Amino acid sequence: MILKGKNIIITGAGRGIGRAVAIACAKEGANLGLTSRTLEQLIAVKEEIDNLGVGVNCVIKTADITKLPEVLETFMTFHGELGRFNGVIANAGASWMASAHEVPPEKFEMVINTNILGVFYTFRAAYPYLKKDDNNDKARFIITGSAVYPSVMGRFSSYTASKYGVVGLQRELATEYKRENILVNMILPVQVDTKLLRGRRAGDGNKPPGVLDPEDLNDYYLYVLSDMANKVNDELIYPNNFEAMKMIIKDAPEEKKENWNVFKEYLEEKSLNLYNNIKKFGTLGEFILDRSK
Ligand SMILES: NC(=O)c1ccc[n+]([C@@H]2O[C@H](COP(=O)([O-])OP(=O)(O)OC[C@H]3O[C@@H](n4cnc5c(N)ncnc54)[C@H](OP(=O)(O)O)[C@@H]3O)[C@@H](O)[C@H]2O)c1
Repeated sequence: MILKGKNIIITGAGRGIGRAVAIACAKEGANLGLTSRTLEQLIAVKEEIDNLGVGVNCVIKTADITKLPEVLETFMTFHGELGRFNGVIANAGASWMASAHEVPPEKFEMVINTNILGVFYTFRAAYPYLKKDDNNDKARFIITGSAVYPSVMGRFSSYTASKYGVVGLQRELATEYKRENILVNMILPVQVDTKLLRGRRAGDGNKPPGVLDPEDLNDYYLYVLSDMANKVNDELIYPNNFEAMKMIIKDAPEEKKENWNVFKEYLEEKSLNLYNNIKKFGTLGEFILDRSK
């Protein structure tokens, strides 16, 4: 269990990516504080976690991430029940599809408020409770961004603007707080089979090719929360690079998967582009290789 006894807080934890990561963290021994606006969804996730029988403490509380007093109260409750936070995942997010001249201004505002202000409020509410006293076990603040940065989709002006903007926030936080033992990183997925992407069809078994399941992202969050990432700060982690690497791992001869150094050379031969994209993330490559064997 790589997160045994750690306290991890996750926003947007009632469904989708946040739910999957919450369950994965529980399986690795973490105690959890989970929040979103929908109580029934949080209760269902807590039930799933309690039924794992792994003996972790899972606390749930609703909050609208765009309302600072609610977020402050929720994080105070988590601290009261769990103690200091080892990791916080600012994952809650919203989207709206429409051409810029048609998007209702209040929807544009809602997306910006959820995806930028919500991350800022999450940090503000978490800051007093983050465990900052151990240089060898630093606090983690992880933001779920989107691989729309630095690209563009069309008909998603509010979402794209918000996901570009939150990269600026992440970089500021990483710079400002590195001396306080807080590491700030971002995970930027492409398309994932959740309500945000597919509405009510999420999880119907008919996701288009190339769309990931929420569980496919678990390893990236677990890695950033793990001891292996105690020196990783201010990184933008694109899971799709490593998902492509997983395909190469699947087809690689056993002797090429022995360890990261051997596999790295094999990867360089197979796909120089991919190798160049991931070579600076050595310990993440190693983590993914170990968990894919
Ligand atoms: N799915 C994709 O293709 C994709 C790709 C790249 C990045 N992402 C990012 O992944 C993150 C998680 O999204 P998802 O795909 O898992 O979507 P999802 O299934 O719709 O989950 C979104 C979560 O955020 C919560 N949330 C939304 N607005 C909130 C608010 N105002 N206050 C509190 N909680 C709020 C939702 O709960 P309530 O509605 O109950 O509050 C829900 O738990 C988002 O930041 C999203 O931008 C998703």
